[in-house]
Amino acid sequence: MKYTTVLFDLDGTLTRSEEGITRSALYAADKMGFTGFTKEEFMAFIGPPLFESFKKICGMTDEQADQATALYRERFSVVGWAENEVYPGIPALLRSLKKNGVKIAMATAKPLVFAEKIAKRFGFEPYLDALIGPGLDKKHAGKADIVAECIRLLGGEVVMVGDRCYDVEGGAANGVDTIGVTYGYGTEEELIASGATHIAHSVQELADILLGDAPRAKGLFVTMEGVDGCGKTTQREALVAHLTQLGWEVQVTREPGGDEIAEKIRHLVLDPVNTAMFDETEAYLYAASRAQNVRALIRPALEAGKLVVCDRYVDSSIAYQGGGRQMGTARIAQINKEAVGDTIPEITVYLRMTPQDALARRLSASEPDRLEKEKDSFFARTFEAYEALYAQAGMERVITVDASKSIEEVTAQMLKQLDARLEALA
Ligand code: TYD
Repeated sequence: MKYTTVLFDLDGTLTRSEEGITRSALYAADKMGFTGFTKEEFMAFIGPPLFESFKKICGMTDEQADQATALYRERFSVVGWAENEVYPGIPALLRSLKKNGVKIAMATAKPLVFAEKIAKRFGFEPYLDALIGPGLDKKHAGKADIVAECIRLLGGEVVMVGDRCYDVEGGAANGVDTIGVTYGYGTEEELIASGATHIAHSVQELADILLGDAPRAKGLFVTMEGVDGCGKTTQREALVAHLTQLGWEVQVTREPGGDEIAEKIRHLVLDPVNTAMFDETEAYLYAASRAQNVRALIRPALEAGKLVVCDRYVDSSIAYQGGGRQMGTARIAQINKEAVGDTIPEITVYLRMTPQDALARRLSASEPDRLEKEKDSFFARTFEAYEALYAQAGMERVITVDASKSIEEVTAQMLKQLDARLEALA
Protein backbone atom coordinates (compact mmCIF):
# COMPACT_ATOMS: atom_id res chain seq x y z
CA MET A 1 0.00 0.00 0.00
CA LYS A 2 1.47 3.27 -1.13
CA TYR A 3 -0.53 5.76 0.92
CA THR A 4 -0.50 5.80 4.73
CA THR A 5 -2.73 8.85 5.15
CA VAL A 6 -5.95 9.33 3.19
CA LEU A 7 -7.82 12.64 3.13
CA PHE A 8 -11.46 12.43 2.05
CA ASP A 9 -13.62 15.21 0.76
CA LEU A 10 -17.18 14.85 2.12
CA ASP A 11 -19.93 15.85 -0.36
CA GLY A 12 -19.77 13.75 -3.51
CA THR A 13 -16.95 11.57 -2.16
CA LEU A 14 -18.22 10.01 1.08
CA THR A 15 -21.85 11.13 0.87
CA ARG A 16 -24.43 11.87 -1.77
CA SER A 17 -25.70 15.13 -0.39
CA GLU A 18 -27.67 16.71 -3.21
CA GLU A 19 -31.03 16.51 -1.44
CA GLY A 20 -30.06 18.63 1.56
CA ILE A 21 -27.96 21.11 -0.40
CA THR A 22 -30.31 21.77 -3.32
CA ARG A 23 -33.41 21.97 -1.14
CA SER A 24 -31.75 24.38 1.28
CA ALA A 25 -30.47 26.54 -1.61
CA LEU A 26 -33.93 26.56 -3.24
CA TYR A 27 -35.43 27.56 0.11
CA ALA A 28 -32.97 30.46 0.48
CA ALA A 29 -33.36 31.69 -3.12
CA ASP A 30 -37.13 31.52 -2.84
CA LYS A 31 -37.17 33.58 0.36
CA MET A 32 -34.99 36.19 -1.32
CA GLY A 33 -37.47 36.44 -4.21
CA PHE A 34 -35.23 34.57 -6.69
CA THR A 35 -37.87 32.11 -7.82
CA GLY A 36 -38.33 29.65 -10.67
CA PHE A 37 -35.08 27.71 -10.24
CA THR A 38 -35.02 23.91 -10.46
CA LYS A 39 -33.19 21.27 -8.48
CA GLU A 40 -31.14 20.45 -11.60
CA GLU A 41 -29.93 24.05 -11.94
CA PHE A 42 -29.01 24.06 -8.27
CA MET A 43 -26.89 20.90 -8.47
CA ALA A 44 -24.03 23.33 -9.19
CA PHE A 45 -24.24 24.45 -5.53
CA ILE A 46 -22.53 21.22 -4.56
CA GLY A 47 -18.82 21.84 -4.15
CA PRO A 48 -18.06 25.57 -4.47
CA PRO A 49 -18.59 28.07 -1.62
CA LEU A 50 -22.28 29.01 -1.23
CA PHE A 51 -21.65 32.71 -1.41
CA GLU A 52 -20.10 32.37 -4.87
CA SER A 53 -22.88 30.10 -6.10
CA PHE A 54 -25.67 32.47 -5.08
CA LYS A 55 -23.93 35.22 -7.05
CA LYS A 56 -23.10 33.14 -10.08
CA ILE A 57 -26.22 30.97 -10.43
CA CYS A 58 -28.88 33.39 -9.16
CA GLY A 59 -27.21 36.67 -10.09
CA MET A 60 -27.22 38.02 -6.53
CA THR A 61 -25.16 40.94 -5.27
CA ASP A 62 -22.59 40.38 -2.48
CA GLU A 63 -25.08 41.60 0.09
CA GLN A 64 -27.89 39.39 -1.21
CA ALA A 65 -25.56 36.40 -1.36
CA ASP A 66 -24.68 36.98 2.28
CA GLN A 67 -28.35 37.03 3.26
CA ALA A 68 -29.09 33.97 1.15
CA THR A 69 -26.22 32.09 2.81
CA ALA A 70 -27.77 32.86 6.21
CA LEU A 71 -31.18 31.62 5.01
CA TYR A 72 -29.63 28.50 3.55
CA ARG A 73 -28.09 27.69 6.92
CA GLU A 74 -31.44 28.30 8.61
CA ARG A 75 -32.86 25.27 6.79
CA PHE A 76 -29.65 23.29 6.45
CA SER A 77 -28.87 23.39 10.18
CA VAL A 78 -32.25 21.87 11.06
CA VAL A 79 -33.07 19.31 8.35
CA GLY A 80 -30.77 19.73 5.34
CA TRP A 81 -27.60 18.39 6.95
CA ALA A 82 -29.21 14.97 7.49
CA GLU A 83 -30.66 14.65 3.95
CA ASN A 84 -27.65 12.60 2.97
CA GLU A 85 -26.73 9.07 2.07
CA VAL A 86 -23.34 7.43 2.24
CA TYR A 87 -22.11 5.90 -1.03
CA PRO A 88 -22.38 2.10 -0.99
CA GLY A 89 -19.11 0.49 0.07
CA ILE A 90 -17.70 3.44 2.05
CA PRO A 91 -18.00 1.87 5.54
CA ALA A 92 -16.32 -1.29 4.29
CA LEU A 93 -13.51 0.83 2.78
CA LEU A 94 -13.00 2.81 6.00
CA ARG A 95 -12.88 -0.42 8.01
CA SER A 96 -10.30 -1.89 5.65
CA LEU A 97 -8.14 1.23 5.77
CA LYS A 98 -8.28 1.21 9.56
CA LYS A 99 -7.45 -2.49 9.69
CA ASN A 100 -4.28 -1.73 7.72
CA GLY A 101 -3.25 1.11 10.01
CA VAL A 102 -3.94 3.88 7.49
CA LYS A 103 -4.69 7.32 8.97
CA ILE A 104 -7.95 8.84 7.79
CA ALA A 105 -9.06 12.46 7.69
CA MET A 106 -12.09 14.30 6.43
CA ALA A 107 -10.96 17.42 4.59
CA THR A 108 -14.09 19.36 3.73
CA ALA A 109 -15.13 22.81 2.64
CA LYS A 110 -18.33 22.38 4.65
CA PRO A 111 -18.43 24.41 7.87
CA LEU A 112 -16.95 22.33 10.62
CA VAL A 113 -20.09 22.40 12.77
CA PHE A 114 -22.07 20.61 10.05
CA ALA A 115 -19.23 18.32 9.02
CA GLU A 116 -18.96 17.12 12.61
CA LYS A 117 -22.68 16.45 12.87
CA ILE A 118 -22.62 14.52 9.60
CA ALA A 119 -19.54 12.54 10.66
CA LYS A 120 -21.35 11.50 13.83
CA ARG A 121 -24.76 10.81 12.30
CA PHE A 122 -23.40 8.76 9.37
CA GLY A 123 -20.88 6.74 11.35
CA PHE A 124 -17.58 8.23 10.07
CA GLU A 125 -16.47 9.69 13.36
CA PRO A 126 -14.87 6.60 14.89
CA TYR A 127 -12.67 6.13 11.80
CA LEU A 128 -11.34 9.69 11.63
CA ASP A 129 -7.93 10.74 12.91
CA ALA A 130 -8.75 14.31 11.93
CA LEU A 131 -11.70 16.34 10.72
CA ILE A 132 -10.76 19.66 9.18
CA GLY A 133 -13.16 22.26 7.77
CA PRO A 134 -13.63 26.01 7.81
CA GLY A 135 -15.30 28.03 10.56
CA LEU A 136 -18.76 29.46 9.88
CA ASP A 137 -17.47 32.99 9.30
CA LYS A 138 -15.39 32.18 6.20
CA LYS A 139 -16.88 32.78 2.79
CA HIS A 140 -14.02 31.12 0.97
CA ALA A 141 -13.17 27.67 2.15
CA GLY A 142 -9.74 27.13 0.69
CA LYS A 143 -9.16 23.42 0.07
CA ALA A 144 -5.40 23.99 -0.08
CA ASP A 145 -5.40 25.38 3.48
CA ILE A 146 -7.52 22.49 4.71
CA VAL A 147 -5.28 19.91 3.08
CA ALA A 148 -2.20 21.66 4.51
CA GLU A 149 -3.69 21.44 8.00
CA CYS A 150 -4.37 17.70 7.62
CA ILE A 151 -0.81 17.10 6.42
CA ARG A 152 0.55 19.07 9.36
CA LEU A 153 -1.52 17.02 11.80
CA LEU A 154 -1.11 13.52 10.36
CA GLY A 155 1.96 13.44 8.11
CA GLY A 156 2.76 10.20 6.28
CA GLU A 157 2.44 9.40 2.59
CA VAL A 158 -0.66 11.47 1.84
CA VAL A 159 -3.32 11.20 -0.85
CA MET A 160 -6.31 13.52 -1.25
CA VAL A 161 -9.55 11.95 -2.51
CA GLY A 162 -12.29 14.14 -3.96
CA ASP A 163 -14.89 14.54 -6.69
CA ARG A 164 -14.23 18.12 -7.82
CA CYS A 165 -11.35 20.12 -9.31
CA TYR A 166 -11.13 22.04 -6.01
CA ASP A 167 -10.10 18.85 -4.22
CA VAL A 168 -7.48 17.92 -6.81
CA GLU A 169 -6.08 21.46 -6.92
CA GLY A 170 -6.06 21.63 -3.11
CA GLY A 171 -4.02 18.43 -2.98
CA ALA A 172 -1.69 19.48 -5.82
CA ALA A 173 -1.01 22.85 -4.15
CA ASN A 174 0.46 20.86 -1.26
CA GLY A 175 2.44 18.54 -3.52
CA VAL A 176 0.49 15.38 -2.65
CA ASP A 177 -1.07 12.76 -4.92
CA THR A 178 -4.77 12.98 -5.65
CA ILE A 179 -7.57 10.59 -6.58
CA GLY A 180 -10.49 12.05 -8.50
CA VAL A 181 -13.72 10.09 -8.07
CA THR A 182 -16.21 10.34 -10.92
CA TYR A 183 -19.24 8.96 -9.02
CA GLY A 184 -19.70 12.32 -7.25
CA TYR A 185 -20.56 15.73 -8.67
CA GLY A 186 -17.58 16.52 -10.89
CA THR A 187 -16.83 15.23 -14.39
CA GLU A 188 -13.95 13.01 -15.41
CA GLU A 189 -12.71 15.78 -17.76
CA GLU A 190 -12.65 18.28 -14.91
CA LEU A 191 -10.68 15.92 -12.70
CA ILE A 192 -8.17 15.03 -15.42
CA ALA A 193 -7.76 18.67 -16.44
CA SER A 194 -6.94 19.63 -12.87
CA GLY A 195 -4.21 17.00 -12.81
CA ALA A 196 -5.59 14.11 -10.71
CA THR A 197 -2.95 11.40 -10.13
CA HIS A 198 -5.59 8.64 -10.34
CA ILE A 199 -9.21 8.41 -11.44
CA ALA A 200 -11.70 6.10 -9.68
CA HIS A 201 -15.09 5.47 -11.30
CA SER A 202 -16.56 3.70 -8.28
CA VAL A 203 -15.96 3.12 -4.57
CA GLN A 204 -14.72 -0.31 -5.62
CA GLU A 205 -12.03 1.20 -7.86
CA LEU A 206 -11.13 3.66 -5.11
CA ALA A 207 -10.67 0.74 -2.70
CA ASP A 208 -8.46 -1.03 -5.24
CA ILE A 209 -6.20 2.03 -5.63
CA LEU A 210 -5.94 2.59 -1.88
CA LEU A 211 -5.71 -1.00 -0.67
CA GLY A 212 -4.15 -2.91 -3.56
CA ASP A 213 -3.89 -6.50 -2.38
CA ALA A 214 -3.76 -5.63 1.33
CA PRO A 215 -6.22 -7.66 3.44
CA ARG A 216 -9.77 -6.29 3.53
CA ALA A 217 -11.92 -6.08 6.65
CA LYS A 218 -14.78 -8.55 6.92
CA GLY A 219 -18.36 -7.32 6.92
CA LEU A 220 -20.72 -7.33 9.89
CA PHE A 221 -23.28 -9.91 10.93
CA VAL A 222 -26.56 -8.68 12.41
CA THR A 223 -29.39 -10.97 13.53
CA MET A 224 -32.94 -10.22 14.63
CA GLU A 225 -34.79 -12.15 17.31
CA GLY A 226 -38.08 -12.18 19.20
CA VAL A 227 -41.23 -14.25 19.70
CA ASP A 228 -43.81 -14.62 16.90
CA GLY A 229 -45.79 -11.39 16.59
CA CYS A 230 -43.03 -9.07 17.86
CA GLY A 231 -43.04 -7.04 14.62
CA LYS A 232 -39.72 -8.31 13.32
CA THR A 233 -40.56 -8.01 9.62
CA THR A 234 -41.56 -4.33 9.84
CA GLN A 235 -38.52 -3.44 11.91
CA ARG A 236 -36.24 -5.40 9.60
CA GLU A 237 -37.22 -3.12 6.74
CA ALA A 238 -36.43 -0.01 8.81
CA LEU A 239 -33.12 -1.55 9.88
CA VAL A 240 -32.09 -2.38 6.32
CA ALA A 241 -33.09 1.09 5.06
CA HIS A 242 -31.01 2.72 7.80
CA LEU A 243 -27.94 0.56 7.19
CA THR A 244 -28.20 1.19 3.45
CA GLN A 245 -28.30 4.94 4.07
CA LEU A 246 -25.09 4.49 6.07
CA GLY A 247 -23.44 3.00 2.96
CA TRP A 248 -23.52 -0.66 3.94
CA GLU A 249 -24.07 -3.19 1.18
CA VAL A 250 -26.72 -5.22 2.93
CA GLN A 251 -27.45 -8.89 2.32
CA VAL A 252 -30.78 -9.92 3.85
CA THR A 253 -31.61 -13.50 4.70
CA ARG A 254 -33.96 -15.38 7.02
CA GLU A 255 -34.13 -18.62 8.94
CA PRO A 256 -35.26 -21.21 8.42
CA GLY A 257 -34.29 -20.59 4.79
CA GLY A 258 -31.67 -18.78 2.72
CA ASP A 259 -30.62 -20.43 -0.52
CA GLU A 260 -32.75 -22.87 -2.53
CA ILE A 261 -31.84 -25.89 -0.42
CA ALA A 262 -32.44 -24.10 2.89
CA GLU A 263 -35.79 -22.83 1.58
CA LYS A 264 -36.82 -26.44 0.90
CA ILE A 265 -35.99 -27.28 4.50
CA ARG A 266 -38.05 -24.27 5.59
CA HIS A 267 -41.05 -25.56 3.73
CA LEU A 268 -40.66 -28.99 5.29
CA VAL A 269 -40.30 -27.73 8.85
CA LEU A 270 -43.09 -25.15 8.78
CA ASP A 271 -45.70 -27.09 6.76
CA PRO A 272 -48.85 -27.46 8.94
CA VAL A 273 -49.45 -31.01 7.56
CA ASN A 274 -46.30 -32.32 9.25
CA THR A 275 -47.99 -32.90 12.61
CA ALA A 276 -46.06 -36.18 13.14
CA MET A 277 -42.66 -34.45 13.19
CA PHE A 278 -40.58 -35.32 16.25
CA ASP A 279 -38.90 -32.59 18.28
CA GLU A 280 -35.45 -33.95 17.45
CA THR A 281 -36.25 -33.92 13.72
CA GLU A 282 -37.41 -30.33 14.01
CA ALA A 283 -34.30 -29.23 15.92
CA TYR A 284 -31.97 -30.88 13.40
CA LEU A 285 -33.89 -29.43 10.45
CA TYR A 286 -33.51 -25.89 11.79
CA ALA A 287 -29.80 -26.58 12.35
CA ALA A 288 -29.50 -28.13 8.87
CA SER A 289 -31.11 -25.12 7.24
CA ARG A 290 -28.69 -22.94 9.18
CA ALA A 291 -25.64 -25.00 8.22
CA GLN A 292 -26.60 -24.52 4.58
CA ASN A 293 -27.34 -20.79 4.93
CA VAL A 294 -24.09 -20.04 6.75
CA ARG A 295 -22.01 -21.66 4.04
CA ALA A 296 -23.99 -20.71 0.94
CA LEU A 297 -24.84 -17.15 1.80
CA ILE A 298 -23.72 -15.66 5.11
CA ARG A 299 -19.98 -16.36 5.08
CA PRO A 300 -19.42 -15.40 1.42
CA ALA A 301 -21.26 -12.10 2.01
CA LEU A 302 -19.18 -11.33 5.12
CA GLU A 303 -15.98 -12.18 3.24
CA ALA A 304 -17.04 -9.67 0.57
CA GLY A 305 -17.30 -6.96 3.25
CA LYS A 306 -21.10 -6.87 3.22
CA LEU A 307 -23.37 -6.47 6.20
CA VAL A 308 -25.63 -9.49 6.62
CA VAL A 309 -29.03 -9.10 8.27
CA CYS A 310 -30.42 -12.50 9.23
CA ASP A 311 -34.02 -12.72 10.42
CA ARG A 312 -33.63 -15.30 13.25
CA TYR A 313 -30.52 -17.39 13.91
CA VAL A 314 -29.16 -19.77 16.57
CA ASP A 315 -30.91 -17.90 19.41
CA SER A 316 -34.29 -18.81 17.86
CA SER A 317 -33.47 -22.50 18.15
CA ILE A 318 -32.32 -22.03 21.73
CA ALA A 319 -35.57 -20.23 22.58
CA TYR A 320 -38.06 -22.29 20.53
CA GLN A 321 -36.59 -25.79 20.60
CA GLY A 322 -34.56 -25.45 23.81
CA GLY A 323 -37.25 -23.54 25.75
CA GLY A 324 -40.54 -23.98 23.88
CA ARG A 325 -40.06 -27.67 23.12
CA GLN A 326 -38.21 -28.21 26.40
CA MET A 327 -35.28 -29.94 24.72
CA GLY A 328 -32.79 -28.05 26.91
CA THR A 329 -30.93 -24.97 25.81
CA ALA A 330 -27.42 -26.42 26.26
CA ARG A 331 -28.27 -29.36 24.02
CA ILE A 332 -29.62 -27.08 21.28
CA ALA A 333 -26.61 -24.80 21.58
CA GLN A 334 -24.38 -27.83 21.04
CA ILE A 335 -26.21 -29.01 17.89
CA ASN A 336 -25.96 -25.52 16.45
CA LYS A 337 -22.30 -25.12 17.24
CA GLU A 338 -21.69 -27.92 14.77
CA ALA A 339 -23.80 -26.11 12.19
CA VAL A 340 -22.36 -22.58 12.42
CA GLY A 341 -18.86 -22.88 13.90
CA ASP A 342 -17.49 -19.44 14.71
CA THR A 343 -19.98 -17.49 12.59
CA ILE A 344 -21.55 -15.57 15.46
CA PRO A 345 -23.35 -12.24 15.04
CA GLU A 346 -21.69 -8.98 16.10
CA ILE A 347 -25.12 -7.47 16.72
CA THR A 348 -28.43 -9.09 17.71
CA VAL A 349 -31.57 -6.98 17.78
CA TYR A 350 -33.95 -8.49 20.35
CA LEU A 351 -37.50 -7.21 19.91
CA ARG A 352 -38.73 -7.95 23.39
CA MET A 353 -42.42 -8.68 23.73
CA THR A 354 -44.29 -10.58 26.43
CA PRO A 355 -46.28 -13.66 25.31
CA GLN A 356 -49.54 -11.86 26.16
CA ASP A 357 -48.80 -8.88 23.93
CA ALA A 358 -47.50 -11.16 21.19
CA LEU A 359 -50.65 -13.32 21.31
CA ALA A 360 -52.87 -10.27 20.86
CA ARG A 361 -50.88 -9.36 17.74
CA ARG A 362 -50.88 -12.88 16.32
CA LEU A 363 -54.65 -13.21 16.67
CA SER A 364 -55.12 -10.27 14.33
CA ALA A 365 -52.62 -11.63 11.78
CA SER A 366 -52.77 -14.12 8.87
CA GLU A 367 -52.98 -17.96 8.61
CA PRO A 368 -50.79 -19.60 11.29
CA ASP A 369 -47.94 -21.97 10.28
CA ARG A 370 -47.12 -25.15 12.22
CA LEU A 371 -45.14 -23.34 14.91
CA GLU A 372 -47.67 -20.57 15.28
CA LYS A 373 -50.37 -23.15 16.07
CA GLU A 374 -48.62 -24.06 19.29
CA LYS A 375 -50.30 -23.52 22.67
CA ASP A 376 -49.76 -20.39 24.74
CA SER A 377 -47.55 -22.27 27.22
CA PHE A 378 -45.14 -23.01 24.34
CA PHE A 379 -44.73 -19.30 23.63
CA ALA A 380 -44.40 -18.49 27.33
CA ARG A 381 -41.50 -20.97 27.58
CA THR A 382 -39.95 -19.58 24.39
CA PHE A 383 -40.08 -16.06 25.82
CA GLU A 384 -38.55 -17.21 29.11
CA ALA A 385 -35.71 -18.93 27.25
CA TYR A 386 -34.91 -15.74 25.31
CA GLU A 387 -34.94 -13.80 28.56
CA ALA A 388 -32.63 -16.26 30.31
CA LEU A 389 -30.26 -16.41 27.33
CA TYR A 390 -29.89 -12.64 27.07
CA ALA A 391 -29.54 -12.19 30.84
CA GLN A 392 -26.30 -14.19 30.67
CA ALA A 393 -22.89 -12.56 30.91
CA GLY A 394 -21.08 -11.77 27.66
CA MET A 395 -24.15 -10.71 25.70
CA GLU A 396 -22.80 -7.31 24.59
CA ARG A 397 -23.95 -8.13 21.08
CA VAL A 398 -27.61 -7.91 22.12
CA ILE A 399 -29.65 -4.73 21.66
CA THR A 400 -32.91 -5.11 23.58
CA VAL A 401 -35.83 -3.04 22.32
CA ASP A 402 -39.27 -2.77 23.94
CA ALA A 403 -41.39 -4.05 21.03
CA SER A 404 -44.73 -3.24 22.66
CA LYS A 405 -44.37 0.45 21.76
CA SER A 406 -45.57 2.06 18.52
CA ILE A 407 -43.76 1.11 15.30
CA GLU A 408 -42.05 4.52 15.16
CA GLU A 409 -40.90 4.35 18.77
CA VAL A 410 -39.53 0.83 18.34
CA THR A 411 -37.66 1.91 15.19
CA ALA A 412 -36.20 4.97 16.89
CA GLN A 413 -35.09 2.97 19.95
CA MET A 414 -33.61 0.24 17.78
CA LEU A 415 -31.64 2.56 15.47
CA LYS A 416 -30.27 4.62 18.34
CA GLN A 417 -28.87 1.56 20.03
CA LEU A 418 -27.69 0.14 16.72
CA ASP A 419 -25.67 3.28 15.93
CA ALA A 420 -24.03 3.14 19.35
CA ARG A 421 -23.13 -0.51 18.81
CA LEU A 422 -21.76 0.18 15.30
CA GLU A 423 -19.61 2.93 16.77
CA ALA A 424 -18.27 0.53 19.39
CA LEU A 425 -17.44 -1.99 16.65
CA ALA A 426 -15.60 0.50 14.41
P1 TYD B 1 -41.59 -17.26 10.12
O1 TYD B 1 -42.80 -17.29 9.29
O2 TYD B 1 -40.30 -16.88 9.50
O3 TYD B 1 -41.92 -16.43 11.43
P2 TYD B 1 -41.34 -15.05 11.96
O4 TYD B 1 -41.79 -14.01 11.00
O5 TYD B 1 -41.96 -14.90 13.33
O6 TYD B 1 -39.85 -15.20 12.04
O7 TYD B 1 -41.46 -18.70 10.80
C1 TYD B 1 -40.42 -19.05 11.56
C2 TYD B 1 -40.97 -19.90 12.67
O8 TYD B 1 -39.99 -20.87 12.99
C3 TYD B 1 -41.23 -19.10 13.92
O9 TYD B 1 -42.40 -19.53 14.53
C4 TYD B 1 -40.06 -19.43 14.79
C5 TYD B 1 -39.66 -20.80 14.36
N1 TYD B 1 -38.24 -21.13 14.52
C6 TYD B 1 -37.86 -22.10 15.43
O10 TYD B 1 -38.67 -22.70 16.11
N2 TYD B 1 -36.52 -22.41 15.55
C7 TYD B 1 -35.58 -21.79 14.79
O11 TYD B 1 -34.39 -22.07 14.92
C8 TYD B 1 -36.00 -20.78 13.85
C9 TYD B 1 -35.01 -20.08 12.99
C10 TYD B 1 -37.35 -20.49 13.75
